[in-house]
Amino acid sequence: MKEVPFSFDLKAPDFVPSDYDNHIQRKLSNMQGQYLDQSAYEAMLSQDDKLLYQVYELKRPEIEGELLHGISIVHPGKVGDEYYMTKGHYHTVLETAEIYYTLKGRGYMVMETPEGDCAVEELKAGSVLYVLPRWAHRSVNVSADEDLVMFFAYPGNAGHDYGTIETQGFRKLVVDKDGHPEIVDNPRWSPPESA
Ligand code: F6R
Ligand code: ZN
Repeated sequence: MKEVPFSFDLKAPDFVPSDYDNHIQRKLSNMQGQYLDQSAYEAMLSQDDKLLYQVYELKRPEIEGELLHGISIVHPGKVGDEYYMTKGHYHTVLETAEIYYTLKGRGYMVMETPEGDCAVEELKAGSVLYVLPRWAHRSVNVSADEDLVMFFAYPGNAGHDYGTIETQGFRKLVVDKDGHPEIVDNPRWSPPESA
């Protein structure tokens, strides 16, 4: 890990960092139970375990005061009518924010809080999204043929809670309706156990 200030490049067209420590690849098989259309999911998976998204991370100590950062790339595609998306998560330390800068592509960030608020923000090249503390977040690529590429940064001590979203899902889904993205209620959303 670097011990002096450093810089790296993010260059079009793919924006893969010129320097990184970790490359995460999330496939269809990693998204079990996350897509609404379970039969479309099973049918796709029986054909091919497609690569849905990738993350390139620069390693920093996971402590308050550091910023974890890198690039996420969500590929274009759909499972049933639902666009390719990230798993989505809360930060384990709920009171930690995250900032995203969209470098390429079109999509939405689906967000919600444990208190029941939800928000969906558009993502497009050049836009900056600030995810407030307490908001779970999932990015969705709505382009038919282009990657959604974003730079992200968040506090080193944040941690990831995937389990809450795996169990209850997000309240909102982004689906293709006649060739256009539409934000709809998730019919399978279930309230948190404590509610
Ligand atoms: C980190 C963060 C992003 C995501 C990335 C992949 O806190 O929000 O770097 O990790 O977009 O999404 P997940 O982690 O939900 O699979
Ligand atoms: Zn996050």
